Amino acid sequence: MRHCRVFSFVLILQTIWFSSSAQECSISKVNRIDCYPETVPSVQEHCENRGCCYDPKIDANDDVPWCFFPTDYKSYNLTNYKPTIFGFQGMLTLASGTTHHFTKEIQQLKLQVFFETENRLRVKIVDARQSRFEVPITTPKVTNAATNLQYKVETRSDPFGFIVTRKDNGVVILNTTVGPLIYADQFIQLSSSLPTHDIYGLGERRGNALVSTNWNRLLFWARDQIPKDHANLYGDHPFYIGLENDGKAHGVFLLNSNAKEIELQPSPAVTWRTIGGILDFYVFLGPTPEAVVQQYTDVVGKPFMPPYWPLGFHLCRWGYGTSENTWNKVKEMRAAKIPQDVQWNDIDYMQQHLDFTYNHDKFNTLPNMVSDLHNNGQHYVMIIDPGISNNQPKGNYPAYDDGMELDVFIKDPTTMEPIVGVVWPGATVFPDYTHPSIGSYWEKQLLRYYELVKFDGVWIDMNEPSNFGTGSKSGCPNNTLENPPYVPHVTGGALQDRTLCSSAIHHSTTHYNVHSLTGLFEMKATSEALESIRKKRSFVISRSTFPSAGLYGGHWSGDITSTWEDLRKSIVSIINFNMFGIPMVGADICGFSGFTNEELCIRWMQLGAFYPFSRNHNMKAAKAQAPVDFSTSAQVPMRNALLKRYLLLPYLYTLFHSAHVNGTTVARGLFLEFPQDSNTRKIDEQFMWGSGLLISPALYQSASTVNAYFPAGFWYDCTTENLGKRINSNGQYETLQSELHGSIPLHIRGGNIIPAQYPDLNTKKSRKNPFLLLVAPDNTGKACGELYWDDGESLMTENPSITINFVLSGTSLTSYPSNTGYSGTMLLSYVSIFGITSKP
Ligand SMILES: *[C@@H]1O[C@H](CO)[C@@H](O)[C@H](O)[C@H]1NC(C)=O
Ligand SMILES: *[C@@H]1O[C@H](CO)[C@@H](O)[C@H](O)[C@H]1NC(C)=O
Ligand SMILES: *[C@@H]1O[C@H](CO)[C@@H](O)[C@H](O)[C@H]1NC(C)=O
Ligand SMILES: *[C@@H]1O[C@H](CO)[C@@H](O)[C@H](O)[C@H]1NC(C)=O
Repeated sequence: MRHCRVFSFVLILQTIWFSSSAQECSISKVNRIDCYPETVPSVQEHCENRGCCYDPKIDANDDVPWCFFPTDYKSYNLTNYKPTIFGFQGMLTLASGTTHHFTKEIQQLKLQVFFETENRLRVKIVDARQSRFEVPITTPKVTNAATNLQYKVETRSDPFGFIVTRKDNGVVILNTTVGPLIYADQFIQLSSSLPTHDIYGLGERRGNALVSTNWNRLLFWARDQIPKDHANLYGDHPFYIGLENDGKAHGVFLLNSNAKEIELQPSPAVTWRTIGGILDFYVFLGPTPEAVVQQYTDVVGKPFMPPYWPLGFHLCRWGYGTSENTWNKVKEMRAAKIPQDVQWNDIDYMQQHLDFTYNHDKFNTLPNMVSDLHNNGQHYVMIIDPGISNNQPKGNYPAYDDGMELDVFIKDPTTMEPIVGVVWPGATVFPDYTHPSIGSYWEKQLLRYYELVKFDGVWIDMNEPSNFGTGSKSGCPNNTLENPPYVPHVTGGALQDRTLCSSAIHHSTTHYNVHSLTGLFEMKATSEALESIRKKRSFVISRSTFPSAGLYGGHWSGDITSTWEDLRKSIVSIINFNMFGIPMVGADICGFSGFTNEELCIRWMQLGAFYPFSRNHNMKAAKAQAPVDFSTSAQVPMRNALLKRYLLLPYLYTLFHSAHVNGTTVARGLFLEFPQDSNTRKIDEQFMWGSGLLISPALYQSASTVNAYFPAGFWYDCTTENLGKRINSNGQYETLQSELHGSIPLHIRGGNIIPAQYPDLNTKKSRKNPFLLLVAPDNTGKACGELYWDDGESLMTENPSITINFVLSGTSLTSYPSNTGYSGTMLLSYVSIFGITSKP
């Protein structure tokens, strides 16, 4: 019944044609490209002044634009087409006499098309006469066109458009002739058809992994925003992966840091809309989704190689109140024999919330606690916010005085003095992380604090940047950066909302352009300072991120709530950030705000034990939620989940190394691993570590079973209860037992050899234990796997390592070591081969 209704609905949509005056407005509803994204235009003239078609919608519940571009809309002509050494280029000229009523349209543009590699294309459209802001991240410089291209690029001259086709099967990846190019100073828009409805990525957002194409407007502008659906959150990642009908995948990345919208519509089609910068598209041809991620990270950079210790379990809360309370929690965890590698402090450790200080009354034993952690093979991480207090007595607060001396604070556009907002310490100024002197300033502050407290990693928060006020303490000027002709529908309604004035002055540009890069550049400064201070691999976790942030650190999904819904949605964050090249990602286990409960927290510890970054953290007003804050019976499944994580850490570390070298994902959605299996496309309540381990958590209240999907092949149960039990799947769902006090369902995929190590209470200890191999043959009796190993902390430039490949074939299991520089002891004491039906 439901199918029939949907079907006839689609038929109606396809057959109702509307014509406002001329034939060029006859465009089926699903294909209409919005010409009036501001709002629904109630006045017909406002629409027609732009030369667009007007059709007041019939059904108030559908989102079809009332005002849309006619098919013959005049925009740019392509002329002077000429092949170049890197591809081709041309001039785009705005049709003469055209007035679209988009403020300051640019008359002449330059098109540059780069055939960068056989499966990577770059299309850049810039102002032909003067330079505009371009995102200052390092991308590959290609001077010669690649050969053996997997794509074909065609252009239409009038009006201009381009079409990108996958060569081997003719699938049209992009076709921008479906709508016009609009290129004004503060309004740039381009549309394209999509070859599929199955679009993934585009963040940071809360929602399903599969992005709806039903008139879905996604927003991009870094914001301190409690995660909720349809809001722009902390990071800006304008990158999607499309899964085509036959299982091939492509990716499209718009390298642009201005406030943006990306709108998906059911034709299916996409519209990119940005209010600054340039159009700079990268198209990746895959053809597998993993290859798309690798090609994407070829452009934005491969993820950093984490030290080993952050792969352990992290504990944090805002509101320990004293160092004694913090330390006691560590001691309780040790006494309860629950694995813990890292203890953290949130902002309550600081003296009046001042960065680079600690409260000498309440946290007087902090340095001692940190020594104790170190003596026990554990580590310490603390929070730093960007806001630097500007009202401490002169000479008392070097973080402010040094910044003034080096002139590294973002400036107020009116006074040209440092812009002042309000964050935790009260009035604050904000370091300009794009400033050339920022590295030395930031390192100096971190080093001064390091002399007091020997921290091992840094957690950078509030770096959207967050401001409790709007713009600044003295407001913002009224200019076109503060009130642009078009404001994307960002949460809060205005660009300055909960952050700085858009026209605030950075070293070489305005906040308008670099706002969403704050987190990225703070990560860079922090990671470089840490390496320089500790002479070891750095560990940085940031709330705000932008493409290439993975080079410098990881991310947690921010201020989520202790609800079952946020528990489930956390998996999407993990999957998405892995596609964004930031595999070190986790969510606050048991939820950050609101009150968790024992059942929810057990389930969350079971799932969170499989976040690449596994940290339990909550807020001040909420009740304590460390594993030791629950009943001893609740601690059993929590401990067991963590012990299982620790058992599998050698595999996780190997995946991180592969991510670092090749840009592969660590945790991934099933759609990424099994794109040919259309059943996987909507699944986002299960995920994988690499291609070998399937994680199927229980995510619903009162559940004691999980309805889990198994793509075709052999899968071996990896829980203690049913170790080695095999599922031979044809691509089917199975009901798995998952009692609250039992284990999280885990399965090793046939064909894999998983390197493991006997777990312990922290990684310093577990790294000394013997290794094991979990061998899971496929239906031909074969399996293979890999172990990467090093000392777990040396800088990658001076880091002897070893890689061992394992192969099971017939009746023999062989290991092939390579890069054998690592000289530590490694003992293999146990090999478990699953699926042997008769005694060997
Ligand atoms: C664009 O091309 C059309 C058709 O070739 C031509 O009539 C028109 O004059 C051109 N406009 C410009 C600005 O070159
Ligand atoms: C591109 O889109 C236009 C407009 O919808 C359409 O007429 C044309 O056939 C498409 N081209 C390809 C190659 O699909
Ligand atoms: C800002 O300036 C514009 C143009 O001068 C004016 O229309 C608008 O009302 C002003 N807004 C405010 C809030 O003053
Ligand atoms: C990187 O990819 C290449 C090519 O597939 C492979 O040979 C190599 O083993 C990979 N390296 C790592 C560390 O995964």
